[in-house]
Amino acid sequence: MTDRDQHRQAEEANRLLWDEKARVHIRAYKEVQLLRDGAEILDEIELREVGDVAGKRLLHLQCHIGTDTLAWARHGAIVTGVDFSPESIRCAEALRDELGLEARFVHCNVYDLPGALQEEFDIVYTSRGVLCWLRDLGAWAQVVARFLTPGGVFYLMESHPILNALEEQRPGEPAFVHPYFHRPEPVRWEAGGPDYADPSHRLGHPSHEWIWSLSDVVNAVLGAGLTLEFLNEYDRLFFPLLPSMTTADGRWYCLPKYADRIPLLLTLGARKGR
Ligand SMILES: C[S@@+](CC[C@H](N)C(=O)[O-])C[C@H]1O[C@@H](n2cnc3c(N)ncnc32)[C@H](O)[C@@H]1O
Repeated sequence: MTDRDQHRQAEEANRLLWDEKARVHIRAYKEVQLLRDGAEILDEIELREVGDVAGKRLLHLQCHIGTDTLAWARHGAIVTGVDFSPESIRCAEALRDELGLEARFVHCNVYDLPGALQEEFDIVYTSRGVLCWLRDLGAWAQVVARFLTPGGVFYLMESHPILNALEEQRPGEPAFVHPYFHRPEPVRWEAGGPDYADPSHRLGHPSHEWIWSLSDVVNAVLGAGLTLEFLNEYDRLFFPLLPSMTTADGRWYCLPKYADRIPLLLTLGARKGR
């Protein structure tokens, strides 16, 4: 079997995992209830960095069950969410209909999107747990650039790549245990681990995750012809990746002992030339 076939097989296994997770997340994501309550689920960082979206066409890549897509719709964006998990798209459409919001959801692999959508967008947005599922960052960035209108903006919010390398082998002491730099083979995590939104749910599928360094991300974006506008790092994360992470509000997690030493979150903004 070629590397390409192996990568596609890993990707297909990931799709089954995300179908399973969608069924768990539609009842376990606190963002679903927050949306029902009319509360804000987008963070002040992304609201500030993305800026006013009213009347703008926004393409949300890897939208999962559509919670963030629908939140952007509430801010006035004309939204399209894309995900390769049919169960995620089904949940997103059901949530959209329940909330009475305008949104289009497209079931498609990111890499196949140029064959499925024709138009261009003012904003391409993707966030929180997206990069590790991508087998080819260069091809992904080309898709991003393809869907931006001239002058349009790409926005990424993601866990900081340095976190791929860290693990707590002693409580409260993150150590460099795993590789930081990209390797072609994905890391395989066996089935049976807990889901992050509902730890009582044991996952029935393995996951295959690709490691990308900070320079891989930036160079993919630059390689697609986009102009980097900002690259920001923050000391908080959207989920408790390490056991000693603490939270004040139940949404953002930090490492109190290492607050000013380890970056936890990355945001990137890039623009397509006119
Ligand atoms: C961690 S979730 C994104 C989370 C989302 N930001 C949220 O908060 O719900 C990752 C999503 O990427 C999707 N995905 C992974 N690989 C993909 C691909 N090649 N094309 C499209 N979607 C993909 C998965 O189905 C999953 O819904």
